[in-house]
Amino acid sequence: MKMKQLKTIYQTSFLIGNIYTPKVLEDEALHQLLKTQFNALTAENIMKPALIQPKQATFTFDAADAMVDYASDHDFHVVGHTLAWHQQTLDWIDEAKTSREEALNLLREHLMEIMTRYKGKIISWDVLNEAIEDGVQQDTKAWRKHLRDTPWLRMIGEDYIQHVFHIAHELDPHAILYYNDYNLNNQQKREATYYMVKELKEAGVPIQGIGMQGHYHTNTPVQTVEESLALFTQLDGIEISVTELDVTVTGSEKATVLSTDHEIEQAQYYAQLFQIYKRYENSIKRITFWGTDDATSWRRERFPTLFNQDYSPKQAFHAIVDPDQFLKDHPLVERDTTQTAVATHGSPVLGVVQTWHQKHPLSVSRQLTAWEGATAKAYVMWDEVSLYLLADVSVATLNASAKEIHHKDSVDIYLNLMQEQSKNDQTDDHHITITFENEVSFNGKVDIKGFKSFATTTNNGYQVQVKIPVQKGLFVEQVIGFDLQVNDSNAHGVRQSMATWNDVSGRLGTSTAGFGKLRLTCAD
Ligand code: XIL
Repeated sequence: MKMKQLKTIYQTSFLIGNIYTPKVLEDEALHQLLKTQFNALTAENIMKPALIQPKQATFTFDAADAMVDYASDHDFHVVGHTLAWHQQTLDWIDEAKTSREEALNLLREHLMEIMTRYKGKIISWDVLNEAIEDGVQQDTKAWRKHLRDTPWLRMIGEDYIQHVFHIAHELDPHAILYYNDYNLNNQQKREATYYMVKELKEAGVPIQGIGMQGHYHTNTPVQTVEESLALFTQLDGIEISVTELDVTVTGSEKATVLSTDHEIEQAQYYAQLFQIYKRYENSIKRITFWGTDDATSWRRERFPTLFNQDYSPKQAFHAIVDPDQFLKDHPLVERDTTQTAVATHGSPVLGVVQTWHQKHPLSVSRQLTAWEGATAKAYVMWDEVSLYLLADVSVATLNASAKEIHHKDSVDIYLNLMQEQSKNDQTDDHHITITFENEVSFNGKVDIKGFKSFATTTNNGYQVQVKIPVQKGLFVEQVIGFDLQVNDSNAHGVRQSMATWNDVSGRLGTSTAGFGKLRLTCAD
């Protein structure tokens, strides 16, 4: 039976894209897959600043030239990705020695070389990538306050944003210019982005598109994606594209094969997304998948794409072919993804690892950011007067140069003790942050009397241990609201990822609704 073609099924709705990697030039089966299913290509890496201008004024265009030729030979639209970004960036620039004027010139030169070369061959450019920080909590209208602390921002100032769009427009007036970001389904990040784009547009800055990357997990609430589409479509003169879609299956982390249940769960998620996308087809220009197959995806450990290693279609593919039918055949069942764990009774001594029962690990690995970094394994213990936590964090580099504590390599602890007893009693509700250097913050609340902490580095990261005295006392079989978040700073002091135990909505700081549940047990 001939395989259905996504690009044909959706031809009246949107373009259907995928990533380009040089591998396709040598892999006939991959070429066939791209050719039959997709009609747009985005370079996964080869057009990024660090790869295309590895040294000042030395441009390596071969790979990108080959891509553009390949696309033109086989009738693909080409999307340019990306011009201004804080990752894979021009790291030969010495910030300390670069003035604003020089930085603007470097930005202009970078864009000029690339955009002139490919002028007329690129339908749209991801001009600015990921400029809004994560963890925006309030005051979303003041979007400037929420700009990510990036090299371009530091060297040029907030108006680097206006500049980069103006320069891009001058160089290629026909290309559609995009702002591209992840987690745009998150309410606060969505709003900050909306206000930024609205204001830029009204001020005459040439910005014409919002790219919702779409790096989701099967536990990302799909209605939040719809909410963002509903908001963004209110912007006049802005098209929307889903630029980097992939959906990892929560809970499949350590598996070597994808179980049938997980495969269906993922497919149901894709089906729901496409039902939503169809409803917004008048505003959505293109949907691009970030990866051709599960073996080569950047998130290959968690099976995020539509095709297996041998390019055979997964359930997710069939789900997208006909989302309504798929969901009729595989009806959704209510799933509760709330994490639950037990805390063991006992009173460990801080700094003495042997006194900790390391029996029931909490895995802090629900990644909130597209860039996946530090994770942790944690253990909780309790006695009648205190709660104890040991967290082992796996992380590549440690950095504490950021101004704000939760932008350093650190662990956030969230406690909502009386959740089942008395919702209004917040005596023992805390948000505590502790860094790998044992700097502690109670985040605006008074210090907890008797609180103790210990931190040490380990072979693969760091470990923190804390004792949190509880005024109201603890009792066996008590269930408490609890969550953990690990913040990962990169070598420049910029937080690049966050992972949690339970909450994936990014609202930990403002709501206890997404906390996991911890049950205090007597024996282990
Ligand atoms: C990823 C690539 O897929 C990886 O191969 C690379 O190592 C890192 O970047 N947001 C983006 C993309 O805009 O460029 C990123 O791509 C994924 C997150």
